[in-house]
Parts: sequence; structure tokens; C-alpha cells
Amino acid sequence: MEGGIEKRTAEIAVIGLGYIGLPTAIMFANAGFNVTGYEIRKEVVDKINSGEAHIVEPEIDELLKNAVESGRLRATSDPEDIRGKDVYIICVQTPLNEDKTPNLSYLESAVKTVAKAMKRGSLIVIESTVPPLTTVKMAKLIEEITGLKAGEDFYMVHAPERVMPGRIFKELVYNSRIFGGITPESAELAEKLYRSFVKGQTFKTNSTVSEVVKLMENTFRDVNIALANEFAYLAHQYGIDAFEAIELANTHPRVKIHVPGIGVGGHCLPKDPHLLVWPARDDFGLIRLAREVNDGMPLLAKDLLFEALKTVNLPPEKAVVAVLGLAYKGDSDDTRNSPAKAFVEAVEEDVAEVRTYDPFVEGTHGSIEDVLEGADAAVIATDHSEFKSLNWEELGKLMRTRIIIDGRHVVEMPPEGFIFKGIGRGEY
Ligand SMILES: NC(=O)c1ccc[n+]([C@@H]2O[C@H](COP(=O)([O-])OP(=O)(O)OC[C@H]3O[C@@H](n4cnc5c(N)ncnc54)[C@H](O)[C@@H]3O)[C@@H](O)[C@H]2O)c1
Repeated sequence: MEGGIEKRTAEIAVIGLGYIGLPTAIMFANAGFNVTGYEIRKEVVDKINSGEAHIVEPEIDELLKNAVESGRLRATSDPEDIRGKDVYIICVQTPLNEDKTPNLSYLESAVKTVAKAMKRGSLIVIESTVPPLTTVKMAKLIEEITGLKAGEDFYMVHAPERVMPGRIFKELVYNSRIFGGITPESAELAEKLYRSFVKGQTFKTNSTVSEVVKLMENTFRDVNIALANEFAYLAHQYGIDAFEAIELANTHPRVKIHVPGIGVGGHCLPKDPHLLVWPARDDFGLIRLAREVNDGMPLLAKDLLFEALKTVNLPPEKAVVAVLGLAYKGDSDDTRNSPAKAFVEAVEEDVAEVRTYDPFVEGTHGSIEDVLEGADAAVIATDHSEFKSLNWEELGKLMRTRIIIDGRHVVEMPPEGFIFKGIGRGEY
């Protein structure tokens, strides 16, 4: 296998061609390997084979075209096409169930597919974010299905992905990577393989450590955002601007407070803290509480809206509310777990009408003027660049009542003639 990696003759199968799997498959193909992408969504397979990406990401069109036209990347939904490969890289989704427990059904199904296709000596890499001890459990599942012995007859590694959408192709090359093997040889082999395109630092450890490391990273961010959000609540109580206070606190050399806002969204941050604590025996209060604080932020935005409506004696059931932004982060079209959607759900039954406008998301109002015409309040739920330089004096003329609720600290100076409330902006 080592020789195959060096000479790029090792055959690779990537399982799951989504936001992580497709860029990973492209990188290995463009590094000179023959890559077969296995994906259960037939329409995704067809699109990729015609050289078209089904996800939005800078540089992806050219890199995918290169990989497909060179003949080194082919997608399939036939498991026969991934039989006997040297390497299997699993990149399927690992979401939460309704009750916030991990849904590992996609992973288990992918592992079973791999177990039926692999050969003695194959290296299996799990890139998906998983609860601690999952890689060891999946190795046992493969042992049961194949009769092979993990660490002796096949290699297995957890290699977590740390890229950020919008910067995936840069970060795949320059981020540091961790390879958690079920044996040291497994980690060593995976490190050699990824060195074919990774220029960042690489580290080897065991699979449970690497699972925990990935989950710690996102939990660290989630808990710190929750702390900033709690500071925002306090700022409202004391009638001060939390952003001014945080900026001043951050002048301390050992303090780095995060940014408060209407909530935490995306595929990873809202779920990964749950994956970290789920297999543990005790109740890890801080991590769970942080999740609750962050999930509660759309309700703070709702409170601010209703307070503002009260000051103009407009009952909520008569109010037309325009939500600006549906994506979970600025200049992105990704609405997965978006707090903007949670805000809409929280208010839609209580107000006369909720309209949404997002320049990146289909199915919303066509323009900002459209959405604000006759509205009583504009609620900014996403920090898209477009929202940072709006001419509120002109837009205010379209509105029936001039209320702005800023959930993302987008409006620096509240415009004249508006009732303005923002999360963490207690002084206004
Ligand atoms: N998206 C990110 O920014 C990001 C960053 C770091 C880590 N991760 C982790 O990476 C993993 C994948 O995330 P994603 O955003 O790429 O998910 P995704 O939903 O975009 O892609 C997963 C793909 O796997 C396919 N799939 C599901 N079951 C399959 C099976 N049994 N066989 C073949 N294909 C199958 C799905 O159809 C889908 O196309 C998750 O565990 C996630 O937490 C994601």
C-alpha cells in the first residue's frame, strides 16, 4: 500500500459526495490518484460525472472539471464499482435526531457498504464528525461482517475535517490535520496518503482522541459564543452596549470574548457539542446549557421586536415583519439550522405576516425594497455584506412603521427617526 501511495497507484473510493466528500475526492484525483466517488443520490452522481458541482464553493467548478476530464474522478451509485479498493474515505452526514441524540444510520450504512466491498489490507478513513469511540465500534462492525481482524488485516483511521465552507479548497491544503488510528500503523498510512496534497502540519494519535479533538474544537466555540450571548443579556439589563464592553474587555492580553448574536447555526456547531457529551455517563451541564443559551437567542430577538412594537402601540397580530437574511452566516446560501429560520418559526403565529429576503437564498422576496414595502419592522438575522451599507433613510420611506431589530450588529449607528433595538445593544 505504501508504495501505491507514493506512486499514486493506490485506488481510492470516497463514500458520500457532499460538502466534504466532493472536495476531498477532487483533491485526491488532482493529486494523481484514481478516485471513485460513491454516492446514494443519483442526481448528484450524474451532475458530477458531467463535470458540474452540486454545491457552491469557490474554485470548485474548475477543479472538478479538471478531475473529471483527466479521467481520475468518476462518481457512481453502484456498490460494485467500489469493490477491492485500497482506500475508502467515508464522508457521510452525522446529524442529530429530533431528540438531539446522534443519528449514525448514514455512517453505519456506509460502513456496511465498505465492509462488503473492501479487501484484505484496505485502509478505511472516517472523515465524518462522530461521537467518541465510534471508529472503534465501526472497526468491530467491519470485523463481524468480513471476519478480518482490525489493525492486522485492515487499517482504520478517524481523520476529522476542519474546513470552513467558502474556504474549503485553501483549508484542505493548509489546515493542520489529525490522524487518529486504531493502531499506530493505521495513522501512519493515512498521514502518508493525505501528505499527497496537505501542506499544513500533521499529527498522529489514536482514533478516540481525534474524535474528541474535533468535537472539543466546535464545543469550545459554541460555549464561548454562549458566554458572549449571556453578556448580551446582561448588557440589556444594565442598559449598556455589550459590543463596546466586549471590545474593551478584549484589550486585556488574556481575554478573547466572542461575538454575541441572534444564534448559532450551520451543519456543525449546533450538533457537535451533543455528539461530544452523548456517549458519556454524566450530565455535562455547561456544554448542554451553552446549547440552550444559543438556541434561545432567536427568542431574545422576538422579545426586542415585541418591546419595540409596544412603544408604537402596535399589537403584534397586526404587525408585518420583514426578516433580512435566512442563511446562518454572512454571504452564504447555507440555511442549515439557521437562527433566522428559528426566529421566523418563533414569531409567525403571533404576527400578521412574516416576509423574508435573502440575496443568496432562493424562494425569498426578490428585493429588499419588496420586502420592506409596508412593513412595520425589519429584523436583521444574517450579516450579509449587503446589509451593512443599506440606505435606511430611503428604505424607511417604504415602511409603515420604522422599527429595526439588529440581530447581528450590522447597523453601526442607529438611523434617525427609527426605533432601533439590537441584540447586546442595551443602550438604545
Ligand atoms: N460541511 C462542513 O462544513 C463540515 C466541516 C467539518 C466536518 N463536517 C462533517 O463532515 C461530515 C459530512 O458533512 P457534509 O456537510 O459533507 O454532509 P452532506 O450532507 O453535504 O454530504 C453527505 C453526503 O453523503 C451521502 N450519503 C449518505 N449516506 C450515504 C451512504 N450510505 N453511501 C453513500 N453516500 C451517502 C449523502 O447523500 C450526501 O450527499 C459530517 O459528519 C459533518 O459533521 C462537515
